[in-house]
Amino acid sequence: MRSVLELIELKRDGGRHSAEELQRLVDGFVSGEMPDYQMAAWLMAALLNGLDGDETVALTKAMTASGRRVDLSGVPGIKVDKHSTGGVGDTTTMVLAPLVASCGVPVAKMSGRGLGHTGGTLDKLESIPGFSVTLDPEVFKRQVRDIGVAVIAQSADVDPADKKMYALRDVTGTVPAIPLIVSSIISKKVAGGADAILLDVKTGSGSFMKTEQQARELAAELTRVGELLGRTVVCVMSDMDQPLGRAVGNALEVREAIATLQGEGPGDLTELCLALGSKMLVLGGVATDEEDGRDRLLDSIASGRALETFRAWVTAQGGDARIVDDPGLLVLAPIMHMVTGDRDGYVAGFDAEGVGRSAMALGAGRAHKEDEIDLGAGLVMEHKVGDRVEAGDVIATLYTSDASCLPEAEARFKAALRMSDTPVNPPPLFHEV
Ligand code: URA
Ligand code: CA
Repeated sequence: MRSVLELIELKRDGGRHSAEELQRLVDGFVSGEMPDYQMAAWLMAALLNGLDGDETVALTKAMTASGRRVDLSGVPGIKVDKHSTGGVGDTTTMVLAPLVASCGVPVAKMSGRGLGHTGGTLDKLESIPGFSVTLDPEVFKRQVRDIGVAVIAQSADVDPADKKMYALRDVTGTVPAIPLIVSSIISKKVAGGADAILLDVKTGSGSFMKTEQQARELAAELTRVGELLGRTVVCVMSDMDQPLGRAVGNALEVREAIATLQGEGPGDLTELCLALGSKMLVLGGVATDEEDGRDRLLDSIASGRALETFRAWVTAQGGDARIVDDPGLLVLAPIMHMVTGDRDGYVAGFDAEGVGRSAMALGAGRAHKEDEIDLGAGLVMEHKVGDRVEAGDVIATLYTSDASCLPEAEARFKAALRMSDTPVNPPPLFHEV
């Protein structure tokens, strides 16, 4: 039997592991027998030399088995989970969870926090006064059964291998490797009890996968591994060449989610939620096809059922649902600053990562896992790709509690904006399904 050192050397030299060897690496790391520095070395060797298809499946299975598996068999219906590979201003979960639940597909979701320039659903939910993201497993299940939706923090005992490995990857330059991303995402979803998985793979400047080719490879591998583990998987590839919707920041995005559930949200966010939601209704066996799914979603928005489900969900998790009727109860950062355009022209594009970093400078994001964030900080984009603007027009409104960060945030926002002298068409929402 090879030692851990020999396993690292094997991967360094381009060799391949047996399923038993990968299991031993995962178990040894989770138990603490294998120290961080050895796992870090192995992760880098895996990033540089790759894992083949069988190795990726074996790693995913070992990670899935590293902790408790959530048993949702007591909740009737096909449990569909949606996962997005890290976006800027991606408000979709907060809209989709109650929207899809209001149409009869149960949503039992574990979510993460934001890191770097990308946001996380948990932080957004915590900007609702009183909202709790930790629920006892039995309460979690009961809530899904009773009102159809619950979203909680990833619990420490579900897929602990992913938690420890991701924390290490984050600080060792080993995030962007397809086999590592696939094993991380699929193990987490399978351990979390999903029957079907809808994956929204982002492409463009704000995402891990910068090119469409890479994103397509990631989508294909996610689908293959998920299906080998017995799950139905559907992938869409959506554009990240500009942030989704207009709001980037936690409380600001809650406000945007409420507007979208009322049928008054930004066009691109609404469209993406309808497209993803209709697929979830089909996966969940509620809609006969996507067109039927779309009709059901639109009907739920128009009738107010989607918003009622949002209210019930917020209330069940301890939050103040009065924010729905009185958005003033959502606390925004006190200092508002308008960014104005320097020239006439058409908005041609935004570097989504740059916009995310501008919001981070305002206090809305974390540089380190343990950093405190300002839930009321962020920005609202007053124009999107394709809009005509004149010099002096307001192009964004910044919100912060610390005026000293405004010059950096404004400079980052302006640097992220690309202008054109000739008219520009808005980008497609999807590259491929
Ligand atoms: N999202 C995840 O959950 N894991 C990864 O490795 C990358 C993105
Ligand atoms: Ca948004």
